[in-house]
Amino acid sequence: MRSLSLLSRPRHFAFLLRAVPASQIAITPIASASRSKRNYSLPAVVPEDEDVTTADPLRRQQQQQQRLSDRVQAKIAAIDQERPFSQALTDNFSRQHTYLRISLTERCNLRCTYCMPAEGVELSPNEAIMTTPEIIRLARLFVKEGITKIRLTGGEPTVRKDIVELVEQLGELQPLGLKTIAMTSNGIALRRKLPSLISNGMNLINLSLDTLDRFKFELMTRRKGFERVMETIDDALALGLDPVKVNCVVMRGTNDKEVLDFVEFTRNKKVDVRFIEYMPFGGNKWKENKLVPYQELIENIRAVHPTFKKLVDDPNDTSKAYHVPGFAGQVGFITSMSDHFCGTCNRLRITADGNLKVCLFGNAEVSLRDMMRQGKTDEELLEVIEMAVKNKKKQHAGMSNLVNMKNRPMILIGG
Ligand code: 5AD
Ligand code: SF4
Repeated sequence: MRSLSLLSRPRHFAFLLRAVPASQIAITPIASASRSKRNYSLPAVVPEDEDVTTADPLRRQQQQQQRLSDRVQAKIAAIDQERPFSQALTDNFSRQHTYLRISLTERCNLRCTYCMPAEGVELSPNEAIMTTPEIIRLARLFVKEGITKIRLTGGEPTVRKDIVELVEQLGELQPLGLKTIAMTSNGIALRRKLPSLISNGMNLINLSLDTLDRFKFELMTRRKGFERVMETIDDALALGLDPVKVNCVVMRGTNDKEVLDFVEFTRNKKVDVRFIEYMPFGGNKWKENKLVPYQELIENIRAVHPTFKKLVDDPNDTSKAYHVPGFAGQVGFITSMSDHFCGTCNRLRITADGNLKVCLFGNAEVSLRDMMRQGKTDEELLEVIEMAVKNKKKQHAGMSNLVNMKNRPMILIGG
């Protein structure tokens, strides 16, 4: 009889269940080393189910497997509930941080006006940027503590030469509890790499597209490339990514009149277009009158689509989801300015030069890169991570104060 270790995540375990016939399984649970100090036990031999009645042996085995799988899932859910969430990733407002955004590079192949100043930004020297082993070390540490979702950002993450290998190494963290490997990309250089990224474990994509007009694209991004982004969206759909999210930053007087075209875009394409309120960052010339509050967008959409309907959001969603009944896709509103979602924030960020940033709008940062280069242990890193997390503010300072606060330009944060 084979023995299985009860790893910390259902998805991994379900995979093992498919690979090994139920009749051969005995379960010897161990808890993931850093996450639990308790022992949990399932029966060493799983008893036959009394209510599996079919006479067909194959069907019977399938039913037994299903029941075993259900029981294991239930047990894992119970363990997850019992096990206290990492203290290091819990802040003083009881927010549990399960989502880590890692910026891989400060470079970008576009120059979006809302993201960086026209004169560009001063880039860190190459040696200041985290190496791949440093990124993977941090990712592993965070996942062991309870991070279940990692999003790769930039600049533009696909500009990093070893992006496919990096995702492959992140994929190896799945047995430790990593469920989602996501990327935010502008879709310019992504297309060729998309199949290998997906086969290496990337399972969620956000593509930036602020206009459906190729000329305006050039104005907003200061570069060409509209067709390529559209092709990348189609490829992502064809490769089965679901959802394919499309990020659209709405700016009054620039692209706000296109909101209905974007809604139309969801008629036949199974995309999730997310209208993002324009946010102030270092050097992006933000003005309050360029911000279009989401309520205004909803009114404009309802005037044309009276059935435009709210969908149910998940607890940590930053987007308020809506759709036009009958349309293949949906839309959402990211209302960071007019209705912030700080109360349910579960995100931490690491910049490309290795600083942990607990809030997108806060300028408090601590260099994990320097600590790693000074030879600090994982425990020492965790202490500093915990201190930073405990310093996280309840909410951001509010629109009018943010404009005057010092913060990095968005390109150096990574969204
Ligand atoms: N306001 C809102 N969203 C922004 N992004 C970048 N800069 C801003 C800003 N000033 C978001 C966009 C882009 C992603 C990389 O970051 O959604 O698609
Ligand atoms: Fe989270 Fe800070 Fe953004 Fe609020 S402002 S949602 S706390 S990152």
